[in-house]
Amino acid sequence: MIDLRGKNAIVTGASSGIGAAIARQLAREKCNVFLTGLGASQLENTLQYCKSQGVAAYCKECNFSDFNSIDLLVDDIKAKDFSIDIFVLNAGISQREKGLETSFETDRSIMQINYWSSVYIIKKFREHILNAKHINISVTTSLAGLFGFPLRTSYCASKHALFGFFESLDLEYPNIAVTFLIPGRINTEISKSALMGDGKRYEKMDPGQSKGLDVDKAAKKAVNAIRKEKHRKLIGKGELLMAHINRYIPCLYYKLAKIISPT
Ligand SMILES: NC(=O)c1ccc[n+]([C@@H]2O[C@H](COP(=O)([O-])OP(=O)(O)OC[C@H]3O[C@@H](n4cnc5c(N)ncnc54)[C@H](OP(=O)(O)O)[C@@H]3O)[C@@H](O)[C@H]2O)c1
Repeated sequence: MIDLRGKNAIVTGASSGIGAAIARQLAREKCNVFLTGLGASQLENTLQYCKSQGVAAYCKECNFSDFNSIDLLVDDIKAKDFSIDIFVLNAGISQREKGLETSFETDRSIMQINYWSSVYIIKKFREHILNAKHINISVTTSLAGLFGFPLRTSYCASKHALFGFFESLDLEYPNIAVTFLIPGRINTEISKSALMGDGKRYEKMDPGQSKGLDVDKAAKKAVNAIRKEKHRKLIGKGELLMAHINRYIPCLYYKLAKIISPT
């Protein structure tokens, strides 16, 4: 169990959706926050909310498609002497196209933002992590990180990869505790920024997405899981049943995953 009060957390993807809601919840629990994301004005809104909760809060825009941009983010965090206790690696983009219709460049973009950027950030803080008494790394994966799902080939791959890397890290270092946040469908605008096969944004709000769990409820569950340092936390509604079906009745999973609407 971590006492969040007075701890320092970096939240990636904090400009909107789940990341912004997690940042607000952490601030309500008196945890200092460093926010990063793409959209400067949205980031600023989250920042002002967090400050209004009486915690130290900072933000810096960063493009995870670009390692140089991540270097500048890390320099800024270090210059501000923000000593991170909790990494919330949450930034991500989705996909809305079949595998063979998705260009290799688009596959790489998804892996870069969803997987490589998180690995890169952690390595940039290598010394800090090795010297820390205790570090929590919370990683937002997805139900689609537990099994395959149509129109999500590279998205699924990136989320599976996060499990592989960070679960192994957890086992290797006694001072690192990794919490996997595993959302099902949460009501955010993630489908709008999802990439189509040619790398263009999908720009539509999926009907399934808007029926998802309220984002503030999801963030409360996420922060509770971080506090309790749970290994894995499924977050969502009835769709979470698929995790159990995939594990215990795989033949049924293959039937259902082909007929459930992926949008
Ligand atoms: N919503 C769901 O149903 C669901 C389900 C399973 C998993 N997830 C995961 O939850 C995480 C958050 O998603 P969300 O639903 O909250 O969607 P979202 O509202 O679109 O949030 C995604 C966040 O990632 C940031 N981001 C995207 N591309 C970036 C880049 N190139 N560089 C830096 N930041 C970038 C976005 O910044 P901007 O907004 O400024 O572009 C935003 O802050 C993602 O990892 C997603 O895969 C979501």
